[in-house]
Amino acid sequence: MKLRSAAWFGLRNRDGFIHRSWMKNQGLPDHLFDGRPVIGICNTWSELTPCNAHFRRIADYVKRGVFEAGGFPLEFPVMSLGETLMRPTTMLFRNLVSMDVEESIRANPIDGVVLLAGCDKTTPALLMGAASCDLPALMLSGGPMLNGKFRGRDIGSGTDVWRFSEEVRCGAMSMGEFLEAEACMSRSAGHCMTMGTASTMACTVEALGMGLPSNAAIPAVDSRRYVLAHMAGRRIVEMVNEDLRMSKILTRKAFENAIRVVGAVGGSTNAVIHLLAIAGRIGVDLNLNDWDTLGRNVPCLLNLMPAGKYLMEDFYYAGGLPAVIRELGDLIHRDALTVNGKTMGENVAEAPCYNREVIRPRSDAFKSNSGIAVLRGNLCPNGAVVKPSAATPELMRHSGCAVVFENIEDFYARIDKPDLDVDETSVLVLKNCGPKGYPGMPEVGNMPLPAKILKKGITDMVRISDARMSGTAFGTVVLHVSPEAATGGVLALVENGDVIELDVSARKLHLNVPDSELTKRRASWTPPQPVYNRGYYKLYFDHVLQADQGADLDFLPGRSGAAVPRDSH
Ligand code: FES
Repeated sequence: MKLRSAAWFGLRNRDGFIHRSWMKNQGLPDHLFDGRPVIGICNTWSELTPCNAHFRRIADYVKRGVFEAGGFPLEFPVMSLGETLMRPTTMLFRNLVSMDVEESIRANPIDGVVLLAGCDKTTPALLMGAASCDLPALMLSGGPMLNGKFRGRDIGSGTDVWRFSEEVRCGAMSMGEFLEAEACMSRSAGHCMTMGTASTMACTVEALGMGLPSNAAIPAVDSRRYVLAHMAGRRIVEMVNEDLRMSKILTRKAFENAIRVVGAVGGSTNAVIHLLAIAGRIGVDLNLNDWDTLGRNVPCLLNLMPAGKYLMEDFYYAGGLPAVIRELGDLIHRDALTVNGKTMGENVAEAPCYNREVIRPRSDAFKSNSGIAVLRGNLCPNGAVVKPSAATPELMRHSGCAVVFENIEDFYARIDKPDLDVDETSVLVLKNCGPKGYPGMPEVGNMPLPAKILKKGITDMVRISDARMSGTAFGTVVLHVSPEAATGGVLALVENGDVIELDVSARKLHLNVPDSELTKRRASWTPPQPVYNRGYYKLYFDHVLQADQGADLDFLPGRSGAAVPRDSH
């Protein structure tokens, strides 16, 4: 089989000289250019992305496997997205990274690619970009951190940060204890070890069939993570020889499996947006309602924070994702193909479970109300989402008066004011935090409760916004309201005191204000202006789709394939 890379390295002319000669300055011997598969290792390593800071070492193990299988590995960097540092939010740049990935793969002599991802947005960004090229590709996740340990107990990334900061605000935790917990939480390489967005996306990689079995849960520092990297390197060479392209794996069945697995692991609401965007790139017809219909009868089997008690390290020792998928039985398309050339059913047929406290059987599920509920109503005609497993059961049907914040600055300026007109029955409404409004749709939807409510011992209230929330967060939080306020969605028209009705079992979110009044309010509404009128911010603002469509840029869905018509000289 003549490989794509032969169009560069196989030429016996001036261009071939140029393509090979400069590469040889890296000490690469001539026989590597003999037509063997060239494997790109797409690396999101960065010291500014602590969750991916160990990726150079992982890449070295991938290279070992590639060499061993007769391939020619070439590592290349793409922009990295560190969740904890980047402002205003990494989500603003997910699509930019996907473009970097797509063009880096297509423009270079790559036959197959191993995608190295870990921190939240790096996973969807790499899958989106690679899907638009549709070469053989395999994703290797970087793995979660070891469990956090603080004063004799396990603490989880993110989840305990939200908890601790609320305890400090209501006087239940000292600042000294708070600062001490910092070093105790993040004590090894790896990404968040709760079932936050990074772990959720690592589970979707495996459920989609894009990662090798057990990819999701092996801790970053466990030697078996490096064995998996080695095996990923070996396998991608075989995939090139088999012409096993992404489009053969990312079928509608694969996405249905992933949606059900997100429900079974109590995964992050962020997976909704990311999977819609990935499906859009590969050309699979997936929409927001699929999340509700496919996930509705899926029980949550995994007892992990934020919904439960344990952490990713415990999950791996209990059997990892293969044990969960096996337990799902007929809820999974067992004939879906995966990157190792076997079906999902074959991969999990013998998967053992070693701890039924962590991975519960379907007959005794951890929570019955799992998945993602998609709400409709005049406040969100194009949908909004809520995660029942993270919500307070008594608040899932609730009617209350809106306390409105026009933007995040307004929220922080007033939330703790003693004279804020709020009680525990109120509904907190935050506007202008959607894709265009913030911009980038940040994780601020789990807005902190007013201090005076916390002091009463109340820990949850209904909150509504066009923002996202961290997968490590919890609460009765309605997210992704579409259309967002900044585009003139009804959310923009909500005023203090308006009654809002939430009924999760009826999938309803209603603003109890007559249409005539909303029309009047709309006449005096003015759209917010973009933060910058140039550069990527402008491209993003002008082209970003709403959350219910995956928040991709409107010209990116679909694939161009990997063909490049012209050479460079
Ligand atoms: Fe990187 Fe959570 S901050 S995965």
